[in-house]
Amino acid sequence: MKAYNWGILGTGNIAHKFAKALTLLDNVHLSAVGSRDGGKAAKFAAEFGFRAHYGSYEELVADPGVEIVYISSPHSYHLQHTLLALRNGKNVICEKPMSLTAPEVQLMADEAKKQGLFLMEALWPPFQPSYLKAAEILNSGKMGKLIHMSGKFAFISPYDPELRTYNPGLGGGSLLDIGIYPIMDILRYMGEPETIIATAVLSPTGVDESTSVLFKFGDGRLAEAYSSFASMAGISTEFNCEKGNLILSRGKDRGQHLIIEYPNDSEDRVFNPPAQGYQHEAAEVMNCLDKGLKESPVVPLSFSITLARTLDAVRKKAGIKYPGRDPK
Ligand SMILES: NC(=O)c1ccc[n+]([C@@H]2O[C@H](COP(=O)([O-])OP(=O)(O)OC[C@H]3O[C@@H](n4cnc5c(N)ncnc54)[C@H](OP(=O)(O)O)[C@@H]3O)[C@@H](O)[C@H]2O)c1
Repeated sequence: MKAYNWGILGTGNIAHKFAKALTLLDNVHLSAVGSRDGGKAAKFAAEFGFRAHYGSYEELVADPGVEIVYISSPHSYHLQHTLLALRNGKNVICEKPMSLTAPEVQLMADEAKKQGLFLMEALWPPFQPSYLKAAEILNSGKMGKLIHMSGKFAFISPYDPELRTYNPGLGGGSLLDIGIYPIMDILRYMGEPETIIATAVLSPTGVDESTSVLFKFGDGRLAEAYSSFASMAGISTEFNCEKGNLILSRGKDRGQHLIIEYPNDSEDRVFNPPAQGYQHEAAEVMNCLDKGLKESPVVPLSFSITLARTLDAVRKKAGIKYPGRDPK
């Protein structure tokens, strides 16, 4: 089995979780980490055992020993940092949302193609054991036709203009940070919507504290998505089918629950992947590279572009704006 040399760009919250997950994989070399702050890079490298650490992202991507770069900067920097890594010959897995608008995601996909390198958005749910089980049940036909979906991702994060999530310059707001998940689920199973109705509650910094979206599809099916930093609605996606329901949810135990409901029967299966399962998306990158693929068949770039186009449409309807980075 070929082992790959990984580099991490940015040393924030999710970078720590991802690095921990990488340590669970046998075919990973923890190669280098880059931070805007050399001290932070050194501390991160020591914590996880990276070979090298750099006080700039430019030095990280110039390291000839690094083959794959994980981009973990705030949303508004994903475009810049992904192009930087690709133009320096690195394969890339970039945190979600891939960027702030669909044309920006298209630019990233075009650059990966031009450079002949791998690129994937770090949408981790489709690789989780609970999601794979749900997909198996839905595809088996046992539930009958999928008629309706509803998804929510919400937790309490009191307003603080200092937080990334409330900072418009960093692409803050609930839609792009967490609303992307239920919308991703809906698009994966229902395709691209024909009609979108959306509204948002904006915070004093102008980013959305909460957003609600109603989708109608060409075949007449409906779906809803809700995201918020102001309620305890939790994390779940519900699939309503002709013969039963499936509910994927994050429990208070942080476990991934899959509730399977038939008219006279129900079951709650709990999956607890180590390191919250972030290693599965990393394994996907390496599996694809082993096969010579430049994108993942599970999360292809065409899906990231469709997702970004849908988020653009929601933003326009709900009045969610980022200075200079608004969809046309
Ligand atoms: N997949 C998931 O489950 C998941 C979960 C959380 C977040 N995310 C995504 O990951 C990305 C980062 O989120 P996070 O929660 O890890 O954020 P965070 O804790 O604020 O970390 C972001 C890191 O980006 C770097 N950075 C570069 N330019 C920056 C700037 N101008 N301001 C602030 N930081 C800057 C910093 O690293 P250095 O100081 O080392 O340069 C910082 O530590 C977001 O796009 C988010 O959507 C994904």
